[in-house]
Amino acid sequence: MKKFLKWVGIVLGALVGLIVIGLVVIYFNSQSRLTHVFDIPEEQVTIPTDAASIENGKHIFQFRGCEACHGEDLQGTVYLDDPAVGKVISTNLTTGKGGVGGDRTDEEWARAIRHGVRTDGTGLLFMPSTEFYYLSDEDLGDVIAYIKSVPPADNEQPVSQISFTGRIVMTLVKGITFIPAELIPHQAARPTAPTVGITPEYGAYLTQSCHVCHGITMSGGVIPGFPADWPPAPNITFGGGSALPTWTEEEFINTIRTGLTPEGKELRAAYMPWNSYKFMSDDELKATWVYLQSLPKLEYGNR
Ligand code: HEC
Ligand code: HEC
Repeated sequence: MKKFLKWVGIVLGALVGLIVIGLVVIYFNSQSRLTHVFDIPEEQVTIPTDAASIENGKHIFQFRGCEACHGEDLQGTVYLDDPAVGKVISTNLTTGKGGVGGDRTDEEWARAIRHGVRTDGTGLLFMPSTEFYYLSDEDLGDVIAYIKSVPPADNEQPVSQISFTGRIVMTLVKGITFIPAELIPHQAARPTAPTVGITPEYGAYLTQSCHVCHGITMSGGVIPGFPADWPPAPNITFGGGSALPTWTEEEFINTIRTGLTPEGKELRAAYMPWNSYKFMSDDELKATWVYLQSLPKLEYGNR
C-alpha cells in the first residue's frame, strides 16, 4: 500500500511538473510573439489635403469597417473584453486626450494601417491589416488624410492586454489570429491595385474582408476560429445552396444597404457587418456583384 501511494505521488508530481513546464513554455512563446519587432520596409505615401480626398478617406474609413471598430468620432472603443482572451482596446486616433493623433508621422500611420504594427514595430492586436495591406497608395493616403482631419475626441483608455487563457488560446488554437502582422508578407513586392471600375478585379479589391467569414472561395460554411454560437456564413458564390442566382443586381445592392434579403431574411449586423458595407457606393456594390458572379460556382461549405 505504501509503495502504491508512493507511485501515485510520483505520477501526480510528474503531471503537475509537466503542466507547469507547459504553462511556462506557453508564457514565453506568447511573450516572444507579443514583443516581436517586425522588419517593415519604409512606406512613402503622399497624404493629400484637399476636401475631395478627405471625403473619400472618410468613405473608405466607413465601408472598410474602421469606423465600426474605432468609433464614429475615431475616439477608440473597447473592441473585446472577455476573460478568455483579454481586453483589447481600439486606439483613439484623434489628437484629443488619450489619442495618438498628435504624435504620429505620416510614415507611422502608413505602417500601422498597412503592416499592423505599433510605432515600436511590435504587432497590433486584432487590427485587421491583412485586409488593409492591399490598399492602394491613393486610398491609404486618403484614409490618413481623413484621420488627420477629424476634430480631437477625448477618450483615455487602458492599453490592450491579453489574459493568460488568451495566451494559451493564441499558442495552441490554430486558425485564430491575434497578431495579424504575423500573416502579412511585409518584405514582398507591393501588390498592384486594380484601376477603379465595375470589374471583377476591382470588386475583388473591395471585398478582402468578406473572405474572413465567407471563406477564400466565398462558398461559406462554419467560420473557423469564431465562437461556437456564431451562425455559419452563407454561400455567396453562384453555386449550389446559394440564394444569389435568384437575385438581381438591384436586390443585391438593396440587401447590403438595408440588411434585408429579397427572401425577407434580416441579416444580423452583429454577424454580417452590412452596417459598414452599406456605405459602399452603387458602383462599388456593382463591382462586388460582378466579382461574385465571376467566382467559380461552388457548393456551400467549400471554403
Ligand atoms: C476589427 C476591429 C478593427 C478594425 C476593422 C480596424 N481597426 Fe485599427 N485597431 C484596432 C485595434 C484593436 C487596435 C489597437 C490594437 C492594440 O492595442 O494592440 C487598432 C490600432 C490601429 C492603429 C494604430 C494606432 C497607433 O498606435 O499607432 C491605427 C492607425 C488604426 N488602427 C487605423 C485603422 C484604420 C485606418 C482602419 C480601417 C482601414 C482600422 N484601423 C480598422 C481594431 C480595428
Ligand atoms: C464577420 C463575418 C462576415 C463578414 C466579414 C461578411 N459576412 Fe456576409 N454574412 C455573414 C453571416 C454570418 C451571414 C448570415 C447572417 C444572418 O443569417 O443573420 C452573412 C450573410 C450574407 C449575405 C446574405 C446571403 C443569403 O443567402 O441570405 C450576403 C449577400 C453577404 N453576407 C455578403 C457579404 C459580402 C459581400 C461581404 C463583404 C463585403 C460580407 N458578406 C462580409 C458573415 C459575414
